[in-house]
Amino acid sequence: MKIEDICFDDFMSYDSKLRKKIINDPELLKIMIRKNLKQSRYEHSLSVACMAQDLAKIHHVDPDKAYVAGLLHDCTKYLSNIEHDSYFRYYDPDKINYPEPIKHSFSAKYYLKEKLNFHDKDILNAIYNHTICNSKDKLSLIIYIADKREPLRKIEDDIADLARKDLYKAFKELSMDVERYIKETSNERFIENSL
Ligand SMILES: [Fe+2]
Repeated sequence: MKIEDICFDDFMSYDSKLRKKIINDPELLKIMIRKNLKQSRYEHSLSVACMAQDLAKIHHVDPDKAYVAGLLHDCTKYLSNIEHDSYFRYYDPDKINYPEPIKHSFSAKYYLKEKLNFHDKDILNAIYNHTICNSKDKLSLIIYIADKREPLRKIEDDIADLARKDLYKAFKELSMDVERYIKETSNERFIENSL
């Protein structure tokens, strides 16, 4: 097998040495994540990873974990509603009732556990909370903010600068902003593009 052929679906069939190598090498994770995403969503994920890594360095969070969380945060973005719900039915039944564009943040946690035998609690928690953040953990706030203000989004406000100085203030401002927009527009297209 060529290394370019690695993918989430076949991961558990690889020998343990290769599995360990992939999990510990963001360049190899990129090969797999690229196969799950459209090009623009893949570029967004790289951009989130870089911004999260920068914020992590500033706020004394493990930058490697931030980078990997950014890379993987949208890994289930293109699963079908039925596929999301298949995880929730078993692990997290309350999430079946959430709007479809939100579900990928929750299903990613179970997908990564199942497909990669991935169990880093900090990273899984940050990914789980990247659409609706109910965690005060710094890595979760970083991924939430980076997802919404990575430079490719071209949103010009002071949130990214504020996040470098005060993560909690930036998160509060941003979450109020997101809630307001969701209420005002209350259409799924906004949510789709924002999360
Ligand atoms: Fe997302």
